[in-house]
Amino acid sequence: MHLRKMWANIGKSSYPIYIGKGVCESIGRLMRDIGLRGKCAIVTNRTVWDLHGDSVEDALLSMGYDVYVLRVPDGEACKSLDVAVQLYEELINREFDRSSVILALGGGSIGDVAGFVAATYMRGINLVQVPTTLLAQVDAAIGGKVAINHPRGKNLIGTFYQPRMVLIDIKFLKSLSTRDMRSGLAEIVKYGAILNGDFFHFVKENWEKILSLKDRELLYAIERSCRIKIRIVEKDERDERGIRALLNFGHTVGHALESAYHYSKLRHGEAVSIGMCYEALISVKMGLAKEHVYRELVHVLEEIGLPVRLSDDVNLEELIERMRHDKKTLDGEICMALPKDIGEGIFVNDVPIEVIRGALRI
Ligand SMILES: NC(=O)c1ccc[n+]([C@@H]2O[C@H](COP(=O)([O-])OP(=O)(O)OC[C@H]3O[C@@H](n4cnc5c(N)ncnc54)[C@H](O)[C@@H]3O)[C@@H](O)[C@H]2O)c1
Ligand SMILES: [Zn+2]
Repeated sequence: MHLRKMWANIGKSSYPIYIGKGVCESIGRLMRDIGLRGKCAIVTNRTVWDLHGDSVEDALLSMGYDVYVLRVPDGEACKSLDVAVQLYEELINREFDRSSVILALGGGSIGDVAGFVAATYMRGINLVQVPTTLLAQVDAAIGGKVAINHPRGKNLIGTFYQPRMVLIDIKFLKSLSTRDMRSGLAEIVKYGAILNGDFFHFVKENWEKILSLKDRELLYAIERSCRIKIRIVEKDERDERGIRALLNFGHTVGHALESAYHYSKLRHGEAVSIGMCYEALISVKMGLAKEHVYRELVHVLEEIGLPVRLSDDVNLEELIERMRHDKKTLDGEICMALPKDIGEGIFVNDVPIEVIRGALRI
């Protein structure tokens, strides 16, 4: 079995990230090795539980954990205050205390709401992230941002809370739809485009193998993405120095688009793909990047099969208004992480509205 261990040294926390194929069968032992025992609530949804619940549950039961399964609605709908309140109720009813564990088994949506509840229940209980989508494996499950949505904006209510352990098993991806695999690839392209040119070229050459789950390329893409993200988060855990903000490339436009569609219609990675294209164009229009940066990015994303343009049903002024209410907005100025070249980015905190409007109209 391929098993890779990395460490994330973030803030006061330091935790292992395991990456492998079939590694979820060892989860009970790996959790016990870091001192976790007792009650464990698996936060998941019906889709994921029916597909993968048994193997995780067996691995926990065999190591003596008291396992409780807490199901939440599928998709983005679980990232709500109502769902968080229901989870608090369940934890209180089952007398969870600060030594207990919450295990998030699912995509980024589940990781975000389970993480938010773990961060706030009794001022914080142990959290283990077991991401089951490519997007969550390369991005959402690592780095400690946890949040729920508000009707007026995505991830508006949240905090920073690092897990005790992350376990990434590529076996889970066998059942994932191609659409969700592509969505994860969007975040992988993002890392290369804004932070690492060599990795961008690797993805450009190998995306088909990643998409068709070839172990070697898939594991490499996941490991590399995790490493890039961890190194950034280690330097700027709380997004205060403009370093972590680079990871938001594609997300200023992307988040506005997701909330304009009320978090339906587009997958997160699809919105980020469209967002990266327009933000790269904005960078060109601001004279920060050469035209080929925009073209190369659009080309790769289009080849992968990701959307690269806004559809006609989007109201541009509404989109701009939503960007103004983004968390990244400072004193009413719209901020964006923009590429200067492939593999190199800069955080700009006063992107002119006229430039944004001009780019969105194309
Ligand atoms: N906290 C962070 O740093 C961070 C980073 C990136 C994204 N996110 C958040 O993550 C969310 C998106 O995550 P996502 O793309 O994983 O979406 P998701 O969690 O909604 O999952 C997508 C779909 O895949 C299904 N699914 C999950 N695992 C499966 C499997 N192995 N086989 C078959 N189906 C499976 C889910 O039930 C769901 O229907 C967004 O809310 C986004 O804001 C958070
Ligand atoms: Zn994202």
